[in-house]
Amino acid sequence: MPLVCVCSPKGGVGKTTLAANLAYTLARAGSKVLAIDFDVQNALRLHFGVPLSDGRGFVAKSADASDWGQSILTTGGNIFVLPYGEVTEEQRITFENNLTHDANFLTRGLHSVLNYPGLVIVADFPPGPGPALKAMSALADLHLVVLLADTASLSLLPQIENDKMIGGALNHRAGHYFVLNQSDSRRNISRDVTAFMQQRLGDKLLGVVNRDESVAEANASQQSVFEFSPVSSAAFDIEIISKRIAALLNITVGDGEMHAPLR
Ligand SMILES: Nc1ncnc2c1ncn2[C@@H]1O[C@H](COP(=O)(O)OP(=O)(O)OP(=O)(O)O)[C@@H](O)[C@H]1O
Ligand SMILES: [Mg+2]
Repeated sequence: MPLVCVCSPKGGVGKTTLAANLAYTLARAGSKVLAIDFDVQNALRLHFGVPLSDGRGFVAKSADASDWGQSILTTGGNIFVLPYGEVTEEQRITFENNLTHDANFLTRGLHSVLNYPGLVIVADFPPGPGPALKAMSALADLHLVVLLADTASLSLLPQIENDKMIGGALNHRAGHYFVLNQSDSRRNISRDVTAFMQQRLGDKLLGVVNRDESVAEANASQQSVFEFSPVSSAAFDIEIISKRIAALLNITVGDGEMHAPLR
């Protein structure tokens, strides 16, 4: 059950876009993949063709339902989505309190998916630290920290390097790795920050994703960048990152065939 958490100290850096496209590449390579949304924005589902009007999700039911697997939506292929769902303020606070105070809340809720053989889980988080990121760090095999090729991201690097993001190490298994998103070689600052990050992070930098209009266009059409523009530079960049993650987590590349539904 390889579990990847996609997070960042910063908002709007491409976490949800990367989480969705990683799920696509890993599924296309033959894995059965579950994408879980821990962000109240509830946007991850939109990358998998779930309509805006569909407010179903696991958070509203999590206080009563012990198995969140019942809220999984199928997307027709090897990909399954567990949306955050539309919630009231009270439901959000209850969920966050449970995450903070009940040490077994996550493992109970995710029991069936955590025990599903071979299932790859990609979890998307809101920006910054938070109760979900902290609770999931105990279960995660790898954290992917997304940053932009700008000076604001650069200034946040020490926070992560000094384990200040969740008040301790982000990951206790394969470790945490970085992705630099929206790198633009035509802009001086972007080029300089990219070069600096490559030097500073070394092997910890799993990849650099170019700023590419097809990403925004793919998002707007609720498609992965691989479906929307398979020969785009972003598709190429994300594919490399996905392969590196698969290698780090020993995710065996399957036959590329669609498999039986999760439940
Ligand atoms: N490589 C890229 N090239 C161009 N645009 C991109 C790229 N990656 C992401 N974007 C665009 O950046 C915006 C933010 O992306 P996204 O919503 O995935 O970020 P996020 O980190 O999940 O944001 P939040 O912190 O609000 O959850 C979107 O409009 C997306 O289309
Ligand atoms: Mg997001």
